[in-house]
Amino acid sequence: MTAKQQAWGTRVGLILAMAGNAVGFGNFLRFPVQAIQNGGGAFIIPYLVSFLLMGIPLLFIEWSIGRYGGQFGNHSTPFMMNSMDKRRMWKYVGVFGIFSNIGIASYYCYLESWTLSYVIHSAFGTFNGLSQDGVVKVFNDYVTVNTTTLIPYESIIFFLICLALNVWILSKGLSDGVEKVAKIGMPLLIGFGIILAIRAITLKAGNDGAVNDGTLGLNYLWTPNFDSITNPKVWFAAAGQIFFTLSLGMGSIQAYASYLKRKDDIALNAMSAGWMNEFVEVVLGGAIIIPISVGYLGIDRVVELTGLGGLGMGFKTLPYLFAQWGPVLAAISGVMWFGLLFFAGITSSLAMGVPCMAFMQDEFKWNQKKSALAFGITILFLGLPTVIFFNQGVFDEYDYWTGTVSLFTFAMFEAILFAWVFGMKKGWKEINLGADIKVPLIYKYIIKYITPVLLIFVFIGALITPLNNDWIAAFNSFISGNGWLLDNSSIIKQIANTALKDQIAAATDIALKKDLEIKMYLINGTRILLLSVFIGVSVLVHIAYKKRINQGGF
Ligand code: ALA
Repeated sequence: MTAKQQAWGTRVGLILAMAGNAVGFGNFLRFPVQAIQNGGGAFIIPYLVSFLLMGIPLLFIEWSIGRYGGQFGNHSTPFMMNSMDKRRMWKYVGVFGIFSNIGIASYYCYLESWTLSYVIHSAFGTFNGLSQDGVVKVFNDYVTVNTTTLIPYESIIFFLICLALNVWILSKGLSDGVEKVAKIGMPLLIGFGIILAIRAITLKAGNDGAVNDGTLGLNYLWTPNFDSITNPKVWFAAAGQIFFTLSLGMGSIQAYASYLKRKDDIALNAMSAGWMNEFVEVVLGGAIIIPISVGYLGIDRVVELTGLGGLGMGFKTLPYLFAQWGPVLAAISGVMWFGLLFFAGITSSLAMGVPCMAFMQDEFKWNQKKSALAFGITILFLGLPTVIFFNQGVFDEYDYWTGTVSLFTFAMFEAILFAWVFGMKKGWKEINLGADIKVPLIYKYIIKYITPVLLIFVFIGALITPLNNDWIAAFNSFISGNGWLLDNSSIIKQIANTALKDQIAAATDIALKKDLEIKMYLINGTRILLLSVFIGVSVLVHIAYKKRINQGGF
């Protein structure tokens, strides 16, 4: 079966697949952690504003780019962008839309495999009777590849199972594979989410060992704090969350949309999938981990834990908290929670496979099975370092470059291409072609003037983040001739590995110093690997371009 024969089966299937693409770990694991780290209610206003001014416009842009490119038989971003403007550079900008998917899928499939393993452990009662530290230890052992885990080399085994499952579903194609999984997975996920959220919110202090009501955590998230409006750090975190959760700047939305017909609606479809994601994120994602964890541990401890644990929090705390509800409820809740995460994960990782496969199918005429297998082998090769060297920061390095920097870099270029190069006159026509809703005219101006400017601002802000995120101090220092003081979290300092170098310099313990030095080698090795992937994809794009020229395609 070639890419050209691929198509969506039904409109409901398409919307569920697009929503499944967006709904992922970002909604249930990343959002609560970001919200807590950025002061709870302080996060919510920048988050909603980012959704309206960057999220929705980029959804319109990416769906339009996809459907527009698809009419010329282009299902991957390099050639979709090329169909909008013939200048060579856009093909290479489009490489981001394949690169991000490969990079993210490599660590995302690993995260997905944790959830599969935890479904099984919850069902078999592994966590019953363990202390909080005991549950943390199970997780820490799991991510340390060795034979001391409950099942030897468990993390590798589950990673392989998960990857094989993805490859098998992808090899079935869009309507028989991806769409079917979304039709089963999304309703189950929402059902599990609603049950867990009700249980979380109705948690009462004094019952089942809870020390606070579940509503305490909810109030913490939803009581707006207007001070955050002036804090750029919160704005960047909110914008980053919007990109990740909606899968923007990734290339997967465009690939899915490229299988639409020319006059199929995109305006209402984009809004349905986008708002479904927001419902799952802010209503369900915000109503499970935070209320349950705050209910048992209190706000301060939860803030402390998120600072330490990041994405691992849902694995380190919830099994212990569920265990307080008795063995039967603990097993049911654990299976629902990790099952929900598994469905959220797999509907997103499948979406990461499609752009890569579409590229090989379009340009090198590979069939569905061969391209699915090639995707699987690539992810196996690139994913194993995230499994084996998880504790040395390799996983986080992938997340930073491919799941953060690459997304807003590509989103910025796309917005410029769409609004300014392709032009808003044609762009607005594209968004409205076949539309089943009337898109508010204000979005024409937002897409043209506000979104690109905000994206450029986010990009520059991330590149040169000032020391302690204090922009005023940085400007004053610059004006008075003392230079721009960079924070260690800025892209420039990240490239220079400044934080790690400082840690190595400060380490007095020989063993610690050695560990940090090994970490430095691994981080640099990871960067070389990711850069090679980017160059490798660019070379393939170049070969495909030459091939098209030889065949008279340009
Ligand atoms: N959008 C996907 C998520 O939220 C990648 O996890």
